Amino acid sequence: MSDKASLRIVLANPRGFCAGVDRAIEIVEKALEKYGAPVYVRHEIVHNKFVVNRLRDMGAVFVDELDAVPDGVPVIFSAHGVPKSVPEAAETRKLEYLDATCPLVSKVHRGAERHHADGKHILLIGHAGHPEVIGTMGQLPPGSMTLVETEEDAETIEISDPENLAFVTQTTLSLDDTAKIIEILQRRFPSIAVPKKEDICYATTNRQHAVKLIAEKADAILVLGAPNSSNSNRLVEVAKREGCTRSVLVERAKDIDWSKLDGISSLGITAGASAPEILVEEVIDACRERFDVTVETITLTNENVTFKLPRQLAS
Ligand code: F3S
Repeated sequence: MSDKASLRIVLANPRGFCAGVDRAIEIVEKALEKYGAPVYVRHEIVHNKFVVNRLRDMGAVFVDELDAVPDGVPVIFSAHGVPKSVPEAAETRKLEYLDATCPLVSKVHRGAERHHADGKHILLIGHAGHPEVIGTMGQLPPGSMTLVETEEDAETIEISDPENLAFVTQTTLSLDDTAKIIEILQRRFPSIAVPKKEDICYATTNRQHAVKLIAEKADAILVLGAPNSSNSNRLVEVAKREGCTRSVLVERAKDIDWSKLDGISSLGITAGASAPEILVEEVIDACRERFDVTVETITLTNENVTFKLPRQLAS
């Protein structure tokens, strides 16, 4: 008989990679095959060091700005999207570029453009400084959009022409927080135009609903994800609000503070949309070293979304 304590692992499904992240990684891999190394990538292709380091080992070079890309080599834009000025600058320099912006982020960009063409001022619900927010704001001339980060912002924002107002959102927000912000905006500005279809993407939505299901069954939850990953951080918040207060974000198994898991008999595990499954397996293996483990998966839904590659790479 094992002298280890028992631990029931409850895995959330869906978890981990979404279709936008799969596509972005495939774009870098296929670009390396097609053009050979080095291929430049502006910003982390997705917010995950493990993914970025693997692609770097294959010959990708990650840079902060286009200025750091030498002439004559292809450059890829990250899944979070880029301001319009970036592809424009690439065209001016005659750089070949591949756009790995998630199609669901591009959809938000087109929605913002439509509202702008209709003469509306746009409120962007999102987090300041996140690359997706910088990219979405950069679709329109300065002053066309105002960022709303919190319920307090929604309560206090002054709008000169409330009859000509619309909102769009970042794709990776908390569903519950965003619903509250939208409620305030609709109360204050009853004619505000809403997105045709929810901007928070299917992957964010499913992962938040799935983490709620495991939060009911787990004494603690580990969310695999990077500290700068918006959707991963939201999963920790959602789990905590659902009553699983011992929920933490970890990048790798080596980052787990096992003392924080003292006395638990069940452990929920999920992963943000940019965290690969291999990191979940690594955590389960680390648990097996310390506990007598059983694994159960709680399935909210099975995802079957895929996105096409850009035409330059379509085979
Ligand atoms: Fe796209 Fe949503 Fe993933 S916007 S990159 S499908 S988290």
